Amino acid sequence: TAATANADLAALIRTIPDFPKPGIQFRDITTLLLDAKGFQASIERLAAAAPDGIDLIAGIEARGFIFSSALAAHMGKGLVLIRKDGKLPGATIGVDYTLEYGTDRVVMHEDACVPGQRVLLVDDLIATGGTALAAVRLLRQAGAEVIGAHFVIDLPDLGGADRLRAEGVAVTTLVA
Ligand code: PRP
Ligand code: ADE
Repeated sequence: TAATANADLAALIRTIPDFPKPGIQFRDITTLLLDAKGFQASIERLAAAAPDGIDLIAGIEARGFIFSSALAAHMGKGLVLIRKDGKLPGATIGVDYTLEYGTDRVVMHEDACVPGQRVLLVDDLIATGGTALAAVRLLRQAGAEVIGAHFVIDLPDLGGADRLRAEGVAVTTLVA
């Protein structure tokens, strides 16, 4: 909208050094979320870049839920929750992955999507790409076609977006 057109998303993201470990420059989205126009602009820009023919949006716990759920409601799509292990009540499938600062496992309900459905993956940030790549593998294991992956923030030096593209995923990011 006119009100959000000139929102400077990069200026609204705060950097906190040495969190959660020494040497990590933590890109903090809480300051972006506090800014009504900035948050709205981020959702509008993710929607504007979305491909046609999306059946479902998939979001990654926890920060990814914020943007994926707002985007799903904005676009009128259903939402698949990709969670850390041990949180989903039904039968799940899972994939292990390496994080910039640790290891983890993502899971989803095995029946969350119908094979052949076209899914747009959404997260707040891509760093090494380990999380997003695990989510792509998980969605593909469930039979989904991953037609894009959208992130508010890209840390290009860590190469995650390139890793995803090498796996055949169309990547969109708003701020590098
Ligand atoms: C962060 C971020 C991405 C991931 C990116 O999540 O939200 O999901 O790391 O890193 P990668 O590209 O190197 O995999 P985190 O695991 O810190 O969890 P949170 O969203 O629950 O805070
Ligand atoms: N997730 C992985 N790396 C991150 C970083 N540098 N800032 C915020 N979230 C992250």
